[in-house]
Amino acid sequence: MAFYEITPAQLGENVFEMFREGFLLTAERDGKVNTMTVGWGALGVMWGKNVMITSVRPERYTYEFMEASDTFSMAVLPREDKKKVGYCGSVSGRDTDKIAECGFDVEYADGTPYFAQSRVVFICKKLAAPALEQASFLGDDTIPNRWYDAKSGGYHTLFFGEILKILIKE
Ligand SMILES: Cc1cc2nc3c(=O)[nH]c(=O)nc-3n(C[C@H](O)[C@H](O)[C@H](O)COP(=O)(O)O)c2cc1C
Repeated sequence: MAFYEITPAQLGENVFEMFREGFLLTAERDGKVNTMTVGWGALGVMWGKNVMITSVRPERYTYEFMEASDTFSMAVLPREDKKKVGYCGSVSGRDTDKIAECGFDVEYADGTPYFAQSRVVFICKKLAAPALEQASFLGDDTIPNRWYDAKSGGYHTLFFGEILKILIKE
């Protein structure tokens, strides 16, 4: 089945539900593609543009791809593929070829990889990438103490991507 492009106003998906299901964040570096599950982020408007915000800890292999690439995709799979979303969020592309194991076929839009199996795809161009730090939390240590340590990982970088295209399955 082919994809077709829609405008943000035509998106018939609930943003909170999509983040709850988990997005696959996919980017390419030196001809290699990697993907990981992302549950934290936002969709909205910044600097007069429609933006997708995705949050990536520095330990993730995908972080290296996000640094190297000007663009990325954020995609949701059909709801029955929940296990694949969990898998891509529990193993690293450093150790495993997750994409082959999940049987994903890589396609490109605007030179940016995504999977043919997706339900909805956002093709995004990086605009800004502020890294959170302890001081970002306005003197209240509840969040940093809860979410950032040696086990959970380091402070997220918030990648703001301009939404170039939204693709949905026919
Ligand atoms: C449901 C779910 C949501 C996740 N959300 C995030 C997230 O928002 N940011 C993040 O850095 N890691 C998140 N993770 C963890 C990464 O997906 C996981 O560490 C992944 O294995 C990294 O793969 P990589 O090393 O190939 O990049 C999430 C994992 C799951 C299962």
